[in-house]
Formats: sequence, structure tokens, C-alpha cells
Amino acid sequence: MKLAVAGKGGVGKTSVTAWVGDYLARCGEEVWLVDADTALSLGQALGLAESEIPTPLIQEKELIRERVGEGLIHLNPEVQDLPERLAKQVGNLNLLVMGSIAAAGGGCACTANALLKALLAHLIIQRRQWVVVDLEAGVEHLGRGTVQFVDGLIVVSEPSLRSLQTASRISALARNMGLTRQALLINRATNDFRLPEIEGLPPLAAIIPHLSSLANRQLNSPSVLNLVERDELDHAVGQILAGLGTKN
Ligand SMILES: Nc1ncnc2c1ncn2[C@@H]1O[C@H](COP(=O)(O)OP(=O)(O)OP(=O)(O)O)[C@@H](O)[C@H]1O
Ligand SMILES: [Mg+2]
Repeated sequence: MKLAVAGKGGVGKTSVTAWVGDYLARCGEEVWLVDADTALSLGQALGLAESEIPTPLIQEKELIRERVGEGLIHLNPEVQDLPERLAKQVGNLNLLVMGSIAAAGGGCACTANALLKALLAHLIIQRRQWVVVDLEAGVEHLGRGTVQFVDGLIVVSEPSLRSLQTASRISALARNMGLTRQALLINRATNDFRLPEIEGLPPLAAIIPHLSSLANRQLNSPSVLNLVERDELDHAVGQILAGLGTKN
């Protein structure tokens, strides 16, 4: 199963990607977390030091040229060896740092895109793993290049009108491109949160409150794992997966 996590900037996409991956890995699943954002913060959210984070695949120019070629692009490149070669093992998670898929979708970066596509297709079809992709913030980056990679979308929003409006636009765009399996997650909600009437939002699957332990932790470390609220987070992730109609 391939999932992507989208939403407005700063709503918690990277954290949610880490929480979903961590939950699935503890359930015994083989999980590949893909950082497809230019900010490259997923590694740090998993507890890696900056120096431990691998070079994004889209910057591996030599490798891309070798596998995909130039000019006449090889659309079915050899990728079998790449997951192990490029991934960083973080506990029982596999981190694949790709960089922005959206950027790879246009212009001269289409060779990188061909390699990313083949790699993601290989991961899921040949090997039956879970893939969770942390996307770039906002609506503009959500294009066919992204949507074609995944079969479920987690839309994250804060409990604010602007964030929910962005969530609604992301949802509509993805739906129009055929990605109908979607779940809404409200992050940093207060106890009295009620979802306002906004057209086009995905079905509400889960609500995560403001986590004071995470807020305190962030003063010293960007890691979002092993929080005291882990059971609560596991429950929310279970609700999201159920909302997407997936089971692990
Ligand atoms: N429920 C929560 N309670 C407290 N802090 C949170 C919560 N969710 C996320 N955070 C914190 O908020 C900050 C932003 O979260 P995160 O990086 O996951 O957002 P993002 O959507 O990926 O941001 P960006 O758009 O910049 O990629 C982080 O410091 C994270 O630890
Ligand atoms: Mg992020």
C-alpha cells in the first residue's frame, strides 16, 4: 500500500508520516518512508542527525544518467538494487530521501522522475511493502507526478479555516486526478473542536490534540517518535488506516 501525506505548510505532515510508519513497523510491516519534500525534514523527525541524512535521489545525477539515460529515456530502468543502496535504515524503518517529486515532474528533471517512478513501482509491486510519502506543503505541488505514485491520501489540517480550505483544495485536486481514497486528519485540535462546514473535505478519520510533550521535546530535538502519547497516536493512525479502507 502506498500512501501520501499532504496539507498546508507546518500542519504536521512530516510528523504524521513518521507516526504512521512507526506504527506500521511496530505491527511487523515492512515500511518505506519517502521524503519527497525539498525541506528534507523526515530524517530528522525520525531522530537522525543532519549529517546522517542521505543525499536526495534527485540530486544523484550520475546514477540517474546511468539508469535512465539522456535524451531517449529508458522508461523501465533497472532499480532492483536501489532500495537497499539508497535507503537509510532507521530502527525498523527504511528512509528513502528523494527530494521534491513535483520538481522532478517538470522540464529537464523528467529523467529523475522516471527513476523515482520505477523505484516506487518496484517497491510496492515486487515487494509488497508499505510506502508512506511525505509531500511538499500546499496545493501547487500536488500534480499527476505525485498522485500517480500512491493509492491513498492522508490530508492533514490544523483546526483553522485557512488550513481546512487548503485541505479541501488538495482533496479536490487529488480526487479529480482519480485519487479518491482519502482521509482527513485534524492535528493540534483542542477538546472542543468541531469540524466547520467546508465543502469538499475528505471524511474526517482522526483527531490528534496538541501534544505538550512533543512541543517541549522540540526545544532540544526534532525527533517526533517515542512520545509518552504513543498509544494515543497509535489509535489515531489506526483510525486513519481504517478511514482509508486499508488494514495492516
Ligand atoms: N500534535 C502536535 N502537537 C505539538 N506539536 C506538534 C504536533 N504536530 C506537529 N507538531 C510540531 O509542529 C512542527 C511542524 O510539524 P511538521 O514538521 O510535522 O509539519 P509539516 O506539515 O511537515 O511542515 P512543513 O510544511 O514545513 O513540511 C514540528 O515541530 C512538530 O514537532
Ligand atoms: Mg514537513
